[in-house]
Amino acid sequence: MSDIFTLTPKAADESVRILQLTDTHLFAQGDRTLLGVNTKDSFSAVLDALEAKSEEFDFVLVTGDISQDYSPESYQLFAALIARLKQQVFFLPGNHDDGPLMYRMFGNLNVHTEKSIVCGHWQLVCLNSEVYGVPHGWLQREELNYLRKMAKTNRQLHTVACLHHLPRMVGCAWLDTQTLHNQNEFYEAVRDLDNLRLVLSGHVHQEVDEMHEQVRYLASPSTSIQFAPHSLDFALDYKAPGWRTLTLHPDGQVETEVHRLQTESFRPNFDSRGY
Ligand SMILES: [Fe+2]
Repeated sequence: MSDIFTLTPKAADESVRILQLTDTHLFAQGDRTLLGVNTKDSFSAVLDALEAKSEEFDFVLVTGDISQDYSPESYQLFAALIARLKQQVFFLPGNHDDGPLMYRMFGNLNVHTEKSIVCGHWQLVCLNSEVYGVPHGWLQREELNYLRKMAKTNRQLHTVACLHHLPRMVGCAWLDTQTLHNQNEFYEAVRDLDNLRLVLSGHVHQEVDEMHEQVRYLASPSTSIQFAPHSLDFALDYKAPGWRTLTLHPDGQVETEVHRLQTESFRPNFDSRGY
């Protein structure tokens, strides 16, 4: 099977509309909570809000930490819940996931397992930065080579590198210890890829939007708990669960917006000292 999936943009001007969801942290049992937040309920509330808005997307990308307990049941639950959205769903693994299990299961659960998505003038390349059982990330040489190969082969396409661990420090001392540990190798690998426009990530459970060496780096809120920006030690944020929408234009411009639930129903337990 090819690891590239090709879609045609719905928009007449060929812009690509993407919904990014990230860090759902689901459990096998739907009544389990993560630091006081029922992650099934917060994810379902996000899906409710998206259904109510009924915006058009070309596809959905989920950037890892789909599970909190590595269980097959958590992936079945994810697939059952997200089926409400109707759009095609793609994913990549995070540090709380069992990557090999996801690739085995999702093909049978209507979640795409292809690593590259080509849509109009854009391609998204999904990379696996998971190091099994530890929170930090690492991109193996073969992942970096795959990104380089795709960018160079499809030189005419604007390229998005998608990976769970944002290859940037975010200014949270505790989170920055569990960042992508070979960030410099990543920068080195992408420096001559002049069609790389964007890097899209999860993991940091907060909004990040910055430029580095002509590439835009985005991270997005979780559908579950949020981490407080600029915290020395582990700290949760008061902000509600959220998601990101992106419009990728044919000329390489990117428009993006972060959205959050308008509710205080998913406040975590602020006495938590870690997760
Ligand atoms: Fe996470």
